[in-house]
Amino acid sequence: MRKPLIAGNWKMHKTVGEAVQLAEQLTAGINMIKTAERCEVLVCPTAVCLKPVADSLRGSGILLGAQTVHHKSSGAYTGEISAEMALAAGCSHIILGHSERRELFGEDDALINLKMKAVLNAKAVPVLCVGEVLAQRKAGEAEQTVASQLRGALAGIGISDILNTVIAYEPVWAIGTGETATPEQADAMHASIRRVLTGLYGENAADSVRILYGGSVKPDNVDELMARPNIDGALVGGASLDAASFARIVNFK
Ligand code: PGA
Repeated sequence: MRKPLIAGNWKMHKTVGEAVQLAEQLTAGINMIKTAERCEVLVCPTAVCLKPVADSLRGSGILLGAQTVHHKSSGAYTGEISAEMALAAGCSHIILGHSERRELFGEDDALINLKMKAVLNAKAVPVLCVGEVLAQRKAGEAEQTVASQLRGALAGIGISDILNTVIAYEPVWAIGTGETATPEQADAMHASIRRVLTGLYGENAADSVRILYGGSVKPDNVDELMARPNIDGALVGGASLDAASFARIVNFK
């Protein structure tokens, strides 16, 4: 019922030339005619690479996303791009609230909520990231942390918009560390996220929202994660930078 989504977050990696080369390797290495029946595939390069990668992916069926946007459509916001600009460059999806944006760039739930509204208003699909840090997990506060991030980011977002939203659970302690949440831990948190969505939007809507897992997803752990009932895809950082490894993740069993 929920079509899985495998998304690559390229973060601040790759020049235009390198990004286009990776896009070409992906279009050659992933059989999207077969893949499209079972999952969607998304890549999220840096802002400067969006248009060239869009050109290279054209007709491939691989989707394009941005890693963040400003919440205004245009204006005097040096260094920023808007959701409308990302769409014009070829994006259909926009990652929001990634833990690196929260930790390194001071984004809080209120700002992420403004960005959610901007992205939905522009008719793009937000990939809303939530996740606890290690201290919160150790203190037994992981579920309540994630629930509060969700409530903050989704304030004022209606039911039709939640159906057009993807959630990504990324425990901060598992991002780029090589340490993955166990499939049981991830599945339990995904179930908890779905309970929060059920409380906000009812069971039918909550059941159709895709919840991705992110944090050191690799070819050798994707299968067991994807086997879990509440895990509807993956947001992949490091392992999405290599075409063969990302293609293997897309071909999860
Ligand atoms: P990772 O990053 O796969 O390198 O852990 C995931 C992410 O930050 O989205």
